[in-house]
Amino acid sequence: MLHVALVGAGGMARNYRKIYTLLPDVEWTAAIDLNPEQLEKCRAEGAKRTSEDFAEALEMDIDLVDISTPNHLHEQQAVAALVAGKHVLLQKPIANTMEAAGRILKAAAGSKGVLGMYMSSYANPMVWEIKQMMEEGHLGKIQSVRARDSHRGGLRHPPEATWRSSRDQTGGGSFIQLSIHAVNLMQWWLSSPIVEVSAFSQNQYSPNIGGDDLTVCIAKFAGGAFGVFDSGYASEGVIREIYGTAGWVRMFERENQLEMNLDRPYTSGWLNYDTPGIRKTFSMPPRVLDDASSPINPHRMFIEAIRTGKKPMMDGETGRRDLAVVIAAYESAAQNKSVAVCNSKTA
Ligand SMILES: NC(=O)c1ccc[n+]([C@@H]2O[C@H](COP(=O)([O-])OP(=O)(O)OC[C@H]3O[C@@H](n4cnc5c(N)ncnc54)[C@H](O)[C@@H]3O)[C@@H](O)[C@H]2O)c1
Repeated sequence: MLHVALVGAGGMARNYRKIYTLLPDVEWTAAIDLNPEQLEKCRAEGAKRTSEDFAEALEMDIDLVDISTPNHLHEQQAVAALVAGKHVLLQKPIANTMEAAGRILKAAAGSKGVLGMYMSSYANPMVWEIKQMMEEGHLGKIQSVRARDSHRGGLRHPPEATWRSSRDQTGGGSFIQLSIHAVNLMQWWLSSPIVEVSAFSQNQYSPNIGGDDLTVCIAKFAGGAFGVFDSGYASEGVIREIYGTAGWVRMFERENQLEMNLDRPYTSGWLNYDTPGIRKTFSMPPRVLDDASSPINPHRMFIEAIRTGKKPMMDGETGRRDLAVVIAAYESAAQNKSVAVCNSKTA
């Protein structure tokens, strides 16, 4: 039995906290949050005990600490849990600074616990379809990719300060919060790290947000492809596009749709693209955030990695690598020049 403490159970974690009551041989032992109302809900959903005190996550009976608190708290909580020998599943971004990410990785290196990143993209069946298509060569050689990650939260943000409105606490603004998903995913799809970026970043329409409400970043992958990533807090849209020498595919995340035009037919469990050269759109199944029976459920995958002793698919180093791209983009915008991504593990 694996005993889990969910820390920061009341925000994004609301969408998946129930998974810990569904996974086999897992017990949702503790929910820790500062919001008593959310703690009450956690108890009703199956948490064995609840607390406002993070120290409860370090108790003897806890094996895994799932941290879904604001970015600036990741370091202190993850380091404490790793030092106590717990496994840690950490929300993106790994931290709000590279220095903090380095300290988390150092704690992980000296811990008997395993560190993994929770990246919600992988709960999406479309993501795996595209990976399969690429691995089977249906897109040919990848020449360029584009990704947009935006919502209008910046227009709606109230004047009261929150961690999300603080540039220091988030580590930036829309780009660190939103585009980190695409930065992570594109590097996984292409099996190639981003090595250099050039970006513009500004805040034009979101007075209550401290960081950027628009960033556009051009990226160069080690394998030779170029990418464009843009994030926004004052306009809508989430899309991923991949263009190769044998076809292209577009993924509309919110609409659960895949659009493609390939030179060759492609068939899988979900898709039947049987008309080479013709653009087609497919409706895809929704994400599986709380489906314990799904092999692509990110919580299930992390727990399987712990149990089998395999490296988690999204480990701490992946989290550091993704953050390095984001920080390089902010540096590029500030310095008005392209910036090499710091890919040194020891930096
Ligand atoms: N994967 C995704 O798609 C996704 C989406 C949104 C947010 N996130 C990430 O999740 C993390 C949390 O973001 P959010 O949107 O849920 O924020 P949020 O502010 O909506 O929720 C944060 C929760 O943490 C609790 N909390 C705050 N300080 C705490 C502390 N010291 N100890 C325990 N609990 C504490 C709050 O009470 C709240 O319930 C961030 O790192 C964010 O980047 C990921």
